[in-house]
Amino acid sequence: MSSLPSGYELKTFDTIDSTNAKARRLVEAGVTKPTWIVSATQTEGRGRQNRRWISHLGNLFCTLLLQPGCAVREAGQLSFVTALAVADVLKQYLPEDRITLKWPNDVLLDEHKVAGILLETCQTEAGRVDALAIGIGINLAHHPQNTDYPSTSIAACNAGKAPQPEAALEDLDRCFAVWYETWRKMGFAPVRNAWLKNAAGLDKVMTAHLPQETLSGRFETLAPGGELILRLPDGETRKIAAADIFFETPRSCKD
Ligand code: BTN
Repeated sequence: MSSLPSGYELKTFDTIDSTNAKARRLVEAGVTKPTWIVSATQTEGRGRQNRRWISHLGNLFCTLLLQPGCAVREAGQLSFVTALAVADVLKQYLPEDRITLKWPNDVLLDEHKVAGILLETCQTEAGRVDALAIGIGINLAHHPQNTDYPSTSIAACNAGKAPQPEAALEDLDRCFAVWYETWRKMGFAPVRNAWLKNAAGLDKVMTAHLPQETLSGRFETLAPGGELILRLPDGETRKIAAADIFFETPRSCKD
């Protein structure tokens, strides 16, 4: 693959430390164009909260280096944009109702994590984001065992059939362009609405692990800025900007 539908630059590797780390190095080297970085494997793939992202051949490991020029407080909205794009990719291979979105930026298949998103700000200037690395890992062919949150892959839920990483990247590029354009032209509101329509656990009781405390409550909605609104048993609501979320025990894959 030498080009993508969006026309964004494309840098491919057989192996690399981390596509997000590479994005940062490209920014430091002066790259100022939107660029997809994709690698067949990663030796130091990283997830949220300094977790490791196991990166063996067969899954998709990529980062979109973007120059959104948005306010720093708006940059997190791009994780919702990305999650919607990843969901659209998965819906090409599996029935829509099996794909849901877990706050803040996971994609679930049959209630198991199938994809993760890691946003890292690379460069800011006067309160604006000049460069952002959007790292995306999609479990196409296989998935890790014994993860904090139960995981799965397309292959595990689709009778062993999964797209090749190249095909998935091309779909992702196309789907991302649609949601990115929506966000740029119309702001976060339509993204928030679409995300809520696909949300996992809306109105259900969940546990939120925050750095200093653990809260249980009902997932009421997303705040206009993307924070999770949790209704606590005493009737109070809490607006949560960052946490690890757990629902009741997920069911197993249908296949
Ligand atoms: C998460 O913890 O859910 C986020 C996982 C993000 C993994 C992807 S794989 C491609 C990119 N490079 C990395 O090192 N991490 C992201």
